[in-house]
Amino acid sequence: AFNLRNRNFLKLLDFTPREIQHMLELAAELKKAKYNGYEQPRLKGKNIALIFEKASTRTRCAFEVAAYDQGANVTYLGPSGSQIGYKESMKDTARVLGRMYDGIEYRGFGQEIVETLGAHAGVPVWNGLTDEFHPTQILADFLTMQEHARGKQLSEVTFAYLGDARNNMGNSLMVGAAKMGMDIRLVAPKAFWPEEELVAQCREIAEETGAKITVTEDVQEGVEGCDFLYTDVWVSMGEAKEAWAERISLMMPYQINMAMLKATGNPHVKFMHCLPAFHGEDTVVGKELAQEYPELKDGVEVTDEVVESKHSIVFDEAENRLHTIKAIMVATLGQ
Ligand code: CP
Ligand code: NVA
Repeated sequence: AFNLRNRNFLKLLDFTPREIQHMLELAAELKKAKYNGYEQPRLKGKNIALIFEKASTRTRCAFEVAAYDQGANVTYLGPSGSQIGYKESMKDTARVLGRMYDGIEYRGFGQEIVETLGAHAGVPVWNGLTDEFHPTQILADFLTMQEHARGKQLSEVTFAYLGDARNNMGNSLMVGAAKMGMDIRLVAPKAFWPEEELVAQCREIAEETGAKITVTEDVQEGVEGCDFLYTDVWVSMGEAKEAWAERISLMMPYQINMAMLKATGNPHVKFMHCLPAFHGEDTVVGKELAQEYPELKDGVEVTDEVVESKHSIVFDEAENRLHTIKAIMVATLGQ
C-alpha cells in the first residue's frame, strides 16, 4: 500500500500513475459525499496558508471552499501586503510559515520558487500554478474527462491541446497524459512546442505507460479522432502584453471553432479550457483585443459559439477544481 501523507504536490512528475489514480478516486468520492450530504471533515483544526503572487478565481476559491468543507482555516496572502519576495526570501518564508501552518499553497512565477518552499517548509506544499506547471488543474481535467469519456478509461482517451504548448498547461497536460497512458496531441506552431527535454522525459514515461505523444503543427492530424479538444490563453499571466501581436498571427489557425470540432470527426467531441478564456468582448482585455485585432471578433483562443455550445464542459471542469484540490489536501494532510 502507499500513502501520500506529508507529501508535497509540486508537479505530476513526482507522482506515480497509481498515486495520481488514487487522488482522482478520492476526489470522486469526496464529490459524491458532498453532493449526498455525508462529507466527513478530515482537516479539522488545520491551518492553511494560501500564497498568491498572481491573480486567481478558481484556484483560490477551490482551496478556500475545500478547506472550509473539511473543517480547516485559511489565511490568504495576496500579491502585495506580505514580506514575501521583497524583504524576505522564500527559504525564510518557508521556515516561518511552516512553524504556524499545517499546509501551504503557492501560486507564482518560477517552479524553483515553489520547490524551495517545499524543501524548507516542513509541511505539505501545494503548487497552485507556476510558469512551468499547473498540476492541480490537471487532476480536475482528468476527473472531468473521466466523467465525460462515455465509458472509456483515461488510458483509452485521445485528446488534443492547441495553442501555447510550452506554457504551464501544455507542459502539465503532457506529463499527466504520459503518466496515465493517454493519446495526447500537442498542436501548435513550432515556436510554441514544449521544451525538447520535457518531451523526451515524457516519451520515456510513455514507454512504460503506453501513452502516445504527438507534437505537431498540423491541425487536421492533431484533432482527428479526438474525444476532447483543449486550449488555454495564448498569453499567460506574467508575460508581456507585447507578446499578443506575434502570437495572434501565429496561433490563429489553432483557434478552436465549430469547424475544428467538426474536423475531429467525432460528433460527441467535448471542449475543455482551464479558464479564464477569451471568447468575447465582455472583459477589459477581451474588449481591447477585439478593438485592435478585428479577426478576433468571434473569440481569441476559442470562439464564443464553442464555449456556449453543448460540446463545452468548461464549467464542470471548473467545479472539479474544488473536489480535486480537496482530495490533494485530504491525501497529504488528512486524518
Ligand atoms: N484555472 C485556473 O487556475 O483559474 P484561476 O486563475 O482563476 O485560479
Ligand atoms: N496559462 C495560464 C493558465 C491560467 C490558469 C496562465 O498561466 O495564465
